Formats: sequence, C-alpha cells, structure tokens
Amino acid sequence: LDAFPKVEASQQSRSAGGGLATVLVSLLLTYLVWGEFHSYWVPISHHEFVVDHTVQHALLINFDITVAMTCQRLTVDSMDVSGSRNHFGERQIKKLPVPFSVGRATDLKAERTLHGLDEDEGGEEADIGELIRKARQFRSHIGSAGAPAQIGSGTDGCRVLGSVVVNKMVGSFHFTLMPQGLADLFMLPRGVNFTHRIDHFSFGVHYPGLVDPLANHFQLAPPAHLVAFHYLISVVPTTYVDAQGRALVTNQYAVKDYSKSWAEDPQARGGQPLGTPGLFFKYDMEPISVRVTETQQSLSRLLTRICAAVGGIFVCVGLIHRL
Ligand SMILES: *[C@@H]1O[C@H](CO)[C@@H](O)[C@H](O)[C@H]1NC(C)=O
Repeated sequence: LDAFPKVEASQQSRSAGGGLATVLVSLLLTYLVWGEFHSYWVPISHHEFVVDHTVQHALLINFDITVAMTCQRLTVDSMDVSGSRNHFGERQIKKLPVPFSVGRATDLKAERTLHGLDEDEGGEEADIGELIRKARQFRSHIGSAGAPAQIGSGTDGCRVLGSVVVNKMVGSFHFTLMPQGLADLFMLPRGVNFTHRIDHFSFGVHYPGLVDPLANHFQLAPPAHLVAFHYLISVVPTTYVDAQGRALVTNQYAVKDYSKSWAEDPQARGGQPLGTPGLFFKYDMEPISVRVTETQQSLSRLLTRICAAVGGIFVCVGLIHRL
C-alpha cells in the first residue's frame, strides 16, 4: 500500500526554478511547523490584576544568605507593626560555618550603576548611549581577571538558611549582631562585617517563572566601616493557576535598596552617632494581587493547525506554479 501518488521518473523534468521552489517551500514549512510546536510546548501566561481579597495572616520567607562573619555573632529576628518580635533560633533556621566568597554572584552596586540608577545620578534621565557604554564597561569589568570571585575568599563566613513564618503585615526581618552585654554600648567587637551574598530570597511557594530579584547578588562592606544594608521590599500577592487549573497562592516582590555606613573608628566618625549595623529586609504588602494563568494548547488543536499550515502551503504553491 502506497498512499502517495508517484510520478514516473520519465515524466519528470527537473529545473533550477523548481529546485529553488522546493527548497523555499521546505524552509517555509519547517518554520511554520516549528512555530506551531513552540506555541504548543511553551504555555502562554496571562496576567490579570485584582484587588487582593485573600485573607491570610501568615507570610513565608525563604532565604539562603551567606554573611562574612562567624555564626556566633549573628542573630536573626523579625519585628512588625503589631509590635510582635520573633527571634529565630536553631529550630527554625540553620546556621552553617562556611568560608565566605562571593562566588558567581554579581555586585548589586555595579548592577545599579549599569542601569544608570546610582545614587550620584539622583534620578537624572540617563541617556541611552551612556547606558550602553556602562553596560560594556560592566561586562569587561566582570570578564577581567575574574576579579569579583576573589573577594573575601577564605574569610570566615556563616551561611544562614531556612523558611520562617511571619505575620502578613508591614515588618522587618533582619540579621544583626548578637547582643553581648553592656560592652556593646561603648565598643563594638572587632570583625563585624556584614558583607553578604544572597543565594535565595523569596516569599511563599515557588512557581515556574517566578523571578527572585535578589538571588546571586552580593554587597560589600568597605574595610574599616560598619554598614547597615537595607532592602525595601514590596510583596505582591500572586495567584498562579497552571494549565491543569490548579491554583497556588504565593508572592512575588520588587525591591529597592540603600545602605548606610559609619567609620569603625570613633575618631574618624567625628562624633557622628553609630547606627545599628546589619542586614534589614523591610517588607510591605501591595493591595493589588496578580493572577497568572497558564494555558496550554491541546494536542488535537496542534495537529489541526499543522495540517492546515502544511495543506495550505501546498495548495497555494501549487496554484502559483500552475499560473
Ligand atoms: C568584609 O569582608 C570582605 C570580604 O572578606 C572584605 O572585602 C571587606 O573589606 C571586609 N569589610 C570589613 C569592614 O571588614
């Protein structure tokens, strides 16, 4: 059984034009069929914005952060507008002593400069040529001699990771120095260094396509300085509905950051009062929630569309050929 009509070889005539047409038609068909497969494999996501109706009292924070300081020094706590304070101990989080290095992370400052958003430029409109020039510089900087990867390699560090539950309201989640008694009021212990690398930071459960803007970033505390790193986070409640219609209630976030630093030496500080060095993640909830709905084409629809594309091309090319 042969389903395809064949033309006897003696009846065929080959021409350069015909050959070219065959090649062009094949390319066109490949392109169209590939496009159909692509839209079949890659689900289409649809975004909607609605006022957040969900009544939830808890917010899950997942993190994996390495600080260039020994674990005994660090304490992890949270505090919110209702006045409730939480200390996270051994049961909720893990503290692992590791050597600190920035690894493959990028410097948040350098990236900010790349986007033309450095403090020095204070909201001036960045000109596009300037941005491109900076992007090039940044890339060659990253490429040169593997410099950033060397920062802090070998110094003592502490990797803190875990998932903690806090109240779903304005609050702060922070890494600060373990209070060591009255001595702290007058003199800070040596080796305070809040240089840190963030490997993961998220609110709620992960879903495909969720972006973690802080992941793989580091920030450096300059030598002989105490720094408070602040991250101002807007948590956007998100409902993710997958192609099977299962809904997942989670969160995305947007983040701004600023830092404040003081010279370690009181003389150099010139009488300026000392703030609290540490890492502060201040979060706030957005009233608008995002609903992400994924839809996937059915297999029968894919087949129909492929048949239509292939058949249509054949008929059209046949017509043109006859003309
Ligand atoms: C903190 O540690 C990093 C990495 O070792 C180092 O580059 C930086 O100078 C240190 N800063 C302070 C204040 O000691």
